Amino acid sequence: MADRLKLDRIAFYGRTLAEYTRMYALDLAALRGQRVLDCPGGASSFTAEALSLGIRAAACDILYGGDMAAVLAQGQADIEHTVDGVAQVAHMFHWDFYGTPNGLKTQRTAALHGFAAHYPGGGRYINARLPRLPFADQTFALVLSGHLLFTYGDRLDYDFHLKALRELYRVTAGEVRVYPLQGLDARPYPHLSRLLDDLRAQRIHAEIRPVPFEFQRGSSQILCLSRSAD
Ligand SMILES: C[S@@+](CC[C@H](N)C(=O)[O-])C[C@H]1O[C@@H](n2cnc3c(N)ncnc32)[C@H](O)[C@@H]1O
Repeated sequence: MADRLKLDRIAFYGRTLAEYTRMYALDLAALRGQRVLDCPGGASSFTAEALSLGIRAAACDILYGGDMAAVLAQGQADIEHTVDGVAQVAHMFHWDFYGTPNGLKTQRTAALHGFAAHYPGGGRYINARLPRLPFADQTFALVLSGHLLFTYGDRLDYDFHLKALRELYRVTAGEVRVYPLQGLDARPYPHLSRLLDDLRAQRIHAEIRPVPFEFQRGSSQILCLSRSAD
């Protein structure tokens, strides 16, 4: 039986506000009026949905800025690629939230459509390539980063992870939350304790916290970087 999700590329893929709320243990009422960055946003409907709740959300991704039809086609192709891959290793996931691979595809498609409807005129989708971000220091109250760091730890090296986390931290006045902490093999990122040591050595308060969501088995924690200890 295969023991890792096989993805041949970093998927342009996204999630809904309902999923983000669980993944990052968000208190949506407390975020009203606050600036929140989703980086990378991918094909997530979080920004569109959060704005409708009065949260001042924005997203960035290396694929933003491209032609709408090309971005949508990439999103559709990556839903097929990823959901097929997940179905091959369904035993590595908990299915209480999505039910079946078809249920997962329905959620991913809803996220893509929510994103696509908002992307053209929103002005909230900024082209950026980690580990550099085009924002001033402490611009956002909260920065969310899902399914890039750690997830693709098999092809993004340690230096990239450390630089990207420092940059995400630079642009927040409050917290950075990163989910999940595992790779495509569902194992915890192998260099996590070194990363925590390096961040703390740079006077960044870093801790692991539980969250009320677990799709990939074992993925019920976030890494939280905060300025609370400054
Ligand atoms: C799987 S999606 C994650 C989307 C969303 N955060 C979520 O959890 O659903 C990963 C995204 O990372 C983007 N990406 C890959 N390398 C990047 C980089 N160096 N800087 C910014 N975005 C990047 C891809 O274009 C893709 O949209």
